[in-house]
Amino acid sequence: MTRVLGISGSLRRDSHNTNLLRAAAEAAGPDVEFLLYDGLKEIPPYDEDDDVHPRPASVSRLGSAIDAADAILFSTPEYNSSIPGQLKNALDWISRPVATNALRNKPVAVVGAVWAQAELRKVLAALGARVLDVELPVAQAHTRFDETGLTDEEIRGALADAIEALAAEVEARQGERTHAVA
Ligand SMILES: Cc1cc2nc3c(=O)[nH]c(=O)nc-3n(C[C@H](O)[C@H](O)[C@H](O)COP(=O)(O)O)c2cc1C
Repeated sequence: MTRVLGISGSLRRDSHNTNLLRAAAEAAGPDVEFLLYDGLKEIPPYDEDDDVHPRPASVSRLGSAIDAADAILFSTPEYNSSIPGQLKNALDWISRPVATNALRNKPVAVVGAVWAQAELRKVLAALGARVLDVELPVAQAHTRFDETGLTDEEIRGALADAIEALAAEVEARQGERTHAVA
């Protein structure tokens, strides 16, 4: 069973990006347990003076959720040609300590708005995450959903492919580790 954590960069209730992750959860195969992180709004602004043990509970919860996941699927909107501040802020918390941060070597994939995906990949690479070469830009997101959820079959298939790629990466890494121990 591969555990995938979904993290949306949007806080709003009817977020297309969060809905995309909900659709990803449904599109995932039976060997994948998909959890959606919903604590982003509780993460306080990063302050190095507060970055002491114990860390703020909301930050510890995010760190534990990332630790417990084999892989992460991000979906983010674009805010002024970059990623939303609340997502960058959470990643800034997670990035410390640099050498042992929770995302280091973690397989991650990014979907969502076109330009922000590249921005988010750049930040995740800086943290040492294993960023998969998955492209899933969703244009005109509001036309892809109705009250029942995602209506675009092509996007549903691409989401399933993205999760499969994450699961394959996790499996390959487990194989590597077993090999190293043997
Ligand atoms: C503060 C702010 C800045 C935005 N900047 C951009 C932008 O630079 N480029 C763009 O294509 N859309 C921009 N948008 C539109 C959002 O990307 C769009 O509303 C997106 O659907 C929001 O994602 P969500 O549905 O997951 O909340 C911006 C929206 C907000 C609120």
